[in-house]
Parts: sequence; structure tokens; C-alpha cells
Amino acid sequence: MTRHARLAVVASGRGRNLQAIQHTIEQGGLDATIVGVFSNRRRAPALAFAADRGLHHFALKPKRFHDRAAFDVALAEAVAAVDPDWVILAGYMRILTPKFIDRFSGRLVNIHPSLLPAYKGLDTHARALAAGETVHGASVHIVTDELDAGPVIRQGYIHTADDDTPETLGERVMSRVEQQIYPAALAELSSGRVVYRDGGIIRDGQPQKEAPNDCYDAD
Ligand code: GRF
Repeated sequence: MTRHARLAVVASGRGRNLQAIQHTIEQGGLDATIVGVFSNRRRAPALAFAADRGLHHFALKPKRFHDRAAFDVALAEAVAAVDPDWVILAGYMRILTPKFIDRFSGRLVNIHPSLLPAYKGLDTHARALAAGETVHGASVHIVTDELDAGPVIRQGYIHTADDDTPETLGERVMSRVEQQIYPAALAELSSGRVVYRDGGIIRDGQPQKEAPNDCYDAD
């Protein structure tokens, strides 16, 4: 897909990745428009950021739906209504059901705060420190029905420090790695340099055997 990309962003929290993506667009580093920001939390700071930037934003309350699948159908309807090329999960803290995932199959992207396939799931920074990892980072990947298991587009890492806590490490992974690699991966997808095909990543016309994994230690 080489045209100007329409991005729908789905977020539950602070929205630091949303901010980095919008900032990159404003700086000319990503040829895209955020056509909607969607959340399961009305008070999510991500929605406040969207409102502040004049972006279309929408909150849907899970309690109004009798189960997770019904919520996901309604969320998918709202997202589909803005006609996105890519649906970007940016700190969306609910597990998505196939009702949502299958509707946007192949154009649903997530960032996970670990060097996948290590540390799928929650508490990644604490688990990496407890295991004595010397490097830790984040991965941008295509979302499939299996949690945190879709093909990785690109990764980035930093070195852990002896006095790191899950909070200090998480803060560095966010500011140094996530906020760089998410806009970078979206630029690669929207320019067509990276393509998701037959369950795998094609980069520069070749099947990607290993995702690029750059070091982001230095300021
Ligand atoms: C990030 O660490 C992201 O990797 C994970 O959730 C966190 C969201 O942070 N999926 P934010 O809402 O983008 O600030």
C-alpha cells in the first residue's frame, strides 16, 4: 500500500505511542493521517490527547455489552466506519476476540514491550529483570488470533542497568525504543517497503527471516 495511509488507533492508557505516531506524522516522517482514536476508557489520557489535537475520538463502555464478543463487534463497527488502512493497537489493555481481529486481519498492528517471542503477556519489565536479562526492548508485530505471537516487523533494545526497577526500565523502553520503532514500522508498512503476506513479513521484496533489532542505548 503506497498511498497516504489512514490510521485508526485503539488505546486504553496514557497514549505515549499515539503521541509519538502523531508527532512523527506532523514532522513529515510518516505519510499518514490518524482518522480516529478509539478507547474502552472514556477517561483515557490517549483520548484527551486526541481531543486536544482535533482528532476524531470515540469511547465505548464495556459494561454496556453483555460479553466481550459483543463489545468487540461494536468496537469493530466504530473503527470500520472511519475506513482505516491500518488499525493500530497502542496500549489497548483488553484481550481482543476473533470478532475484532478477523475483521481487520492483516492490517492490525500492535507493539509489545518485550523482545518477542520472549515475555509474551503482562509484567514484561519485571519478568525480564527477575530473569537477569542484560538486554530488553519492544517489538512491533502483526496481530493474529494467538496472543503476542504474530510476525514481528521490527524490534529495538536497550541494556538493562543494575539498579533498574520495572518502572525505570519500562520508562526507558517506552521513551527510547517504543516511541521510535512504532512510527518507523508504520512508515515501512504504509510505504509498502514491508508487506504482510501468507502469514509472514516481506521486506524489500524478500521474506524476512529475522526482524531488524537496533540498539537504542545512546541518547
Ligand atoms: C506500552 O508499553 C505498549 O507496549 C503496551 O502498553 C503500553 C502502552 O503505553 N502495549 P501508552 O498507552 O502508549 O503510553
